[in-house]
Amino acid sequence: MTEKLQEIIDNSKSTVFFGGAGISTESGIPDFRSVDGLYNQKYDVPPEVILSHTYFMNHTKEFFDFYRDKMLALWAKPNAAHTKLAQLEKNGKLDCVITQNIDGLHQAAGSKNVLELHGSVHRNYCMKCGKSYSAEYILESKGIPRCTCSGIIKPDVVLYEEPLDEFVTKSAVRAIQRADTLIISGTSLTVYPAAGMIYYFGGRNLVLINRDSTPADSSADLVIHGKAGEVFSKINA
Ligand code: APR
Repeated sequence: MTEKLQEIIDNSKSTVFFGGAGISTESGIPDFRSVDGLYNQKYDVPPEVILSHTYFMNHTKEFFDFYRDKMLALWAKPNAAHTKLAQLEKNGKLDCVITQNIDGLHQAAGSKNVLELHGSVHRNYCMKCGKSYSAEYILESKGIPRCTCSGIIKPDVVLYEEPLDEFVTKSAVRAIQRADTLIISGTSLTVYPAAGMIYYFGGRNLVLINRDSTPADSSADLVIHGKAGEVFSKINA
């Protein structure tokens, strides 16, 4: 199976990667919907509710308590999947990474052209004056993180009920439309509009590398059910 993947990558003129939380599980960050995922852990309030705009506005302190505890994995390091994707980009074999993840691990591995559909924990802005703050600042803050101007500092991550960034969305769709190979990995393809973007793909090779099956498996040219880090470690960049 990885021989076929290698052949596709080597012969492709334009390859785009589309990933999700499953790419970071081998870095120690749980995904959302697997049995050990965040959304299957027991909370008084479901995490999908906590990670919504309404909850952020009405229960801001509780939002940040959960966010610091569960969404800020600043200790995590890139794994073999992140590293190989960065090498493929460096060698001109990958045009861009489109990710639903907010952990910044693709950039930490050296990827330059990364489209973060759901934003990043590494960007945080005062809602009053726009001043920017680091993820470390948020992690070390207590209660509701406040700006020097006293405004609330909001992470630049797309919460439920919030729109995706228009420029990022348009850039991702354009990249997918231009690609002749789309590699989808580490995502259940259940959250829209992100998951809907893959239907703009019209190229030759649709590749799925995922531990569990996904709705796109049936239309893929190559499906590898396995761990992304392990699969990518067998690929020559
Ligand atoms: N290798 C390959 N696939 C993996 C691995 C791994 N090491 N670990 C997990 N997976 C797969 C799982 O089988 C699952 O199909 O990754 C997928 C993760 O799916 P989700 O947990 O639903 O994560 P994701 O698809 O990224 O969620 C999309 O939901 O809550 C929102 O904003 C959040 O960006 C997130 C979005």
